Amino acid sequence: MGLFKLFTQDIAIDLGTANTLIIHNDKVVVDAPSIVAIDRASNKIIASGHEARQMHGKTHENIKTVRPLKDGVIADFNASEHMIREFIKSVPGLRSKWMAPSLRMVICIPSGITEVEKRAVRDSAEHAGAKEVYLIHEPMAAAIGIGVDVQEPKGNMIIDIGGGTTEIAVLALGGIVSDKSIKVAGDVFTNDISFYMRNQHNLYIGERTAEQIKIEVGSALDELEVPPDELAVQGRDLLTGKPKQVMVTYKEIARALDKSITRIEEAIMEALSMTPPELAADIYNSGIYLAGGGSMLRGLDKRISLKTELPVYVAEDPLRAVVRGTGIALKNLDKFNFLMR
Ligand SMILES: Nc1ncnc2c1ncn2[C@@H]1O[C@H](COP(=O)(O)OP(=O)(O)OP(=O)(O)O)[C@@H](O)[C@H]1O
Ligand SMILES: [Mg+2]
Repeated sequence: MGLFKLFTQDIAIDLGTANTLIIHNDKVVVDAPSIVAIDRASNKIIASGHEARQMHGKTHENIKTVRPLKDGVIADFNASEHMIREFIKSVPGLRSKWMAPSLRMVICIPSGITEVEKRAVRDSAEHAGAKEVYLIHEPMAAAIGIGVDVQEPKGNMIIDIGGGTTEIAVLALGGIVSDKSIKVAGDVFTNDISFYMRNQHNLYIGERTAEQIKIEVGSALDELEVPPDELAVQGRDLLTGKPKQVMVTYKEIARALDKSITRIEEAIMEALSMTPPELAADIYNSGIYLAGGGSMLRGLDKRISLKTELPVYVAEDPLRAVVRGTGIALKNLDKFNFLMR
């Protein structure tokens, strides 16, 4: 083993709009919301990840919470660099007693990313201590994480519905044949719910409450075989100003989300219509794979299946498919020639 290797540590990062995950030594060692809390006076980070998320929406004038990524890309460079640094610091095996190891990282990026945005990811990682950075496109990482053989001469369609973006990609021979990315994903669903609660119930709710509604009674269909119980939601009455509670059902949320889901369906139909015929034939046989937290919305797989008339499979542990794939890429740096340096 060369000296370089001895002091090199490899990590894989899924730097997401909603969640950041890190794999080190084949294990997920960080799985945290992509949020930092900053002291306004000193501009220092006072919390990151779960702890910062607890503060989100509950801060006073001395503290602000920042989500450094928006729509899948870095929106606040400084905050993102600090966040990555904090997360890396929290990985147990990485903190050597004697010296800081030299870090080699594979980070995934949305496939529709610009050169400038790509540069920002690379720079953030380097400022956070990376000596060597490799980039991989998210749909590719998702496919590998799901267990698809991406090098095969066979077409596969992967849809990653994250917090900021929905990426629809057709992959074959280790490359992205066609790809469509739209800024409609989990965050937009959450906003739709806030908007609906304001308009239909005169109830002003925070982002965390809206997300909780989405997870507990969210639905893509207005008829579900296994319906969730109605949910009690508290917020502020817009008319009286008093705190109040209303009950919401999945049918209401299905209505609130309908427009955004239709936009995702349209993007999928467009991606299918751009697919070369031989690959379309493959997809007809293999179906569509879903990954990302947004794919956990009740009935979404069924709705996409009804629209496309194709079988739709949701990845096992969809929130981790991308980082799993990124971790596998990390172990195959020499074999996967689609990694970007
Ligand atoms: N059970 C659930 N039902 C519906 N949505 C969910 C569920 N669990 C998580 N989500 C949503 O999934 C989204 C986060 O997914 P994920 O971690 O894949 O996104 P990300 O990778 O951070 O974002 P991006 O890939 O767009 O940068 C959030 O919007 C979250 O609210
Ligand atoms: Mg993601």
